[in-house]
Amino acid sequence: MCPPTFFDVREAKNPYMGHPIDRIRAHQQWQNLRRSLEDAGVKVEMIAPVEGLDDMVFAANQVFIGDHDKIGKFIVPSRMRYPSRQREVPFYVDWFRKRGYRVIELDFGEDFLEGHGDLLWHPDRSKIWAAYGFRSTRGGIEKFAAAMQELGIPVVPLQLVDAHCYHLDTSLCPLNQDAALTNPSAYSKESLKDLRRGWKRIHELSSEEAHRFMGNGIVANGHYITPYLSDNLGKILAAEGLTPVIVDTSEFEKSGGSAFCMKAFLD
Ligand code: ARG
Repeated sequence: MCPPTFFDVREAKNPYMGHPIDRIRAHQQWQNLRRSLEDAGVKVEMIAPVEGLDDMVFAANQVFIGDHDKIGKFIVPSRMRYPSRQREVPFYVDWFRKRGYRVIELDFGEDFLEGHGDLLWHPDRSKIWAAYGFRSTRGGIEKFAAAMQELGIPVVPLQLVDAHCYHLDTSLCPLNQDAALTNPSAYSKESLKDLRRGWKRIHELSSEEAHRFMGNGIVANGHYITPYLSDNLGKILAAEGLTPVIVDTSEFEKSGGSAFCMKAFLD
């Protein structure tokens, strides 16, 4: 995680952005999120915030993290769509490099790829769900898929079509290896079919629920950390044996992100 010391909303990178934030509240909310992760049994490690990098708190985006029999722990650095966010990437790469992760650099050219915002491991690690349309580009996903193919890891591309679900992590949340939360209207028809084929149980969120980041939760040791809880989400979590933990992330929602976006899981 990255403390929100320099967190701010300056430029509208997604449809949620346009309202000033309250930095003190943001700090309290971030501390609560950190505490709820620790209460769920997660050990939290930190990266130092950098002045001027107002979105650095969204630790899900700067690198993709993996682990592989042959090459061990690795990352794939992102190429962020907005230049202001491209500047975050070297700080994250440095953090991982110092901790022994192998760095797989891709030559993106004009393409973009936004880490775990758009790339989600299937929980059994059999494949990677990879979305494009608003932030990552189809070409970025293809370049990533080619690199993963060399490691024998299949990548399933998904096209996003709802600007309020501009990252995959706003409309797909793996709950366990059989079940996922999803907002079906975030995908093109073909992609929705591909997505459904990969899960035994697809639990649907409405667009309204997804736009309130209920699908942007964190699954941790039997808990589901979420900014809000609806009857529908409550029933889904009960059916999958997860206990909801509600954490207010309203200041970060003004930047288009919630719980899931504010961390990267290490292997
Ligand atoms: N303001 C950030 C942006 O638009 C929010 C990133 C949210 N991260 C996420 N993984 N969905 O880039």
